Amino acid sequence: MHPFESLGLKHDGRKLWVLDQTQLPDAEVWLDGSEPEAMVALIKRLAVRGAPLIGVAAAASLATFAHRGASATEYAAACASLRAARPTAVNLMWAMDRMKDAADPVAEARAIFEEDVRLCEGMAMHGAALLQDGEGLLTHCNTGGLATAGIGTALGVIRRAHEQGKRIHVYADETRPLLQGGRLTAWELWKLGIPSTLITDSMAALLLRDGKIQRVLVGSDRVAANGDFANKVGTYGLAVQARFHSVPFHPVAPFSTVDLACADGAAIPIEERDPAEVRGYGPWRWAPEAMPAWNPSFDVTPADLVTSLVLDRGVYSRADLQRGVLAEVVGKEKSE
Ligand code: MRU
Repeated sequence: MHPFESLGLKHDGRKLWVLDQTQLPDAEVWLDGSEPEAMVALIKRLAVRGAPLIGVAAAASLATFAHRGASATEYAAACASLRAARPTAVNLMWAMDRMKDAADPVAEARAIFEEDVRLCEGMAMHGAALLQDGEGLLTHCNTGGLATAGIGTALGVIRRAHEQGKRIHVYADETRPLLQGGRLTAWELWKLGIPSTLITDSMAALLLRDGKIQRVLVGSDRVAANGDFANKVGTYGLAVQARFHSVPFHPVAPFSTVDLACADGAAIPIEERDPAEVRGYGPWRWAPEAMPAWNPSFDVTPADLVTSLVLDRGVYSRADLQRGVLAEVVGKEKSE
């Protein structure tokens, strides 16, 4: 069994381990994800999260299961239940569809892992070229090494620009309700030494008004054929604010996040999570226990609000997206 080694995933030759992202930044606790059933639970409760990583981790878990001698029936059932663990990030379905028919599940999972590392490098190269010295950048949720097998999507672009010596300053939205920005992006930025400031989601408009932000970079969980895309709830609001203030807005994603079967954003399934996540976090609750709450985990941003989409294979403008460029650039690898 080949090792899988990333910020949030590792294999010790016997077991597959995932970094419990619900305990960051306070504790770095590794949990056993070797059993697909355990991996399904880890993905559902966001111990493992981020569109590319859930596909990579699910594939790695299936590979260890096959390696331990799972029967064809057990393997098929595990693959189906991993595929259904979360509904919005199409990377999970893409990885499971590859694993379903794989002749050698270990080699296939390893290929999915290594491909994700390369896709991150592609996004970083194309995206970092857009960023100018001295820019203030705004990002949402966590799109870094914790969310992928490599250096990340939007945060990978930011990291690469920093490594190139561009003097950038990152404003990270804390990202209500589960605080992936405050807990995870802040942790990654701090570890990487990238100049940054944490804000609550409601502060972004003020920074845009005051000219502190020159560019907004976000990830995506699913990009429709026309360039509409789903990402962590709050992304759509940021896109509206960026347009109002004439600030460029870029989703950053690997081709594995594009779903040509969704003609537009209306076809993207949006996960709704437990309303209790809006009323509190961990041991804390700030709303009455019986207060009704609504908890869509993602929203859809129309391609109209996108300045350009950064993919692993290039940068595509709003006009490119609207003339259907995605079918051309990812059509060969993803069927409609
Ligand atoms: O619910 P999460 O934390 O899995 O949501 C993650 C995001 O919305 C990211 O922005 C997205 O997966 C794309 S970047 C890797």
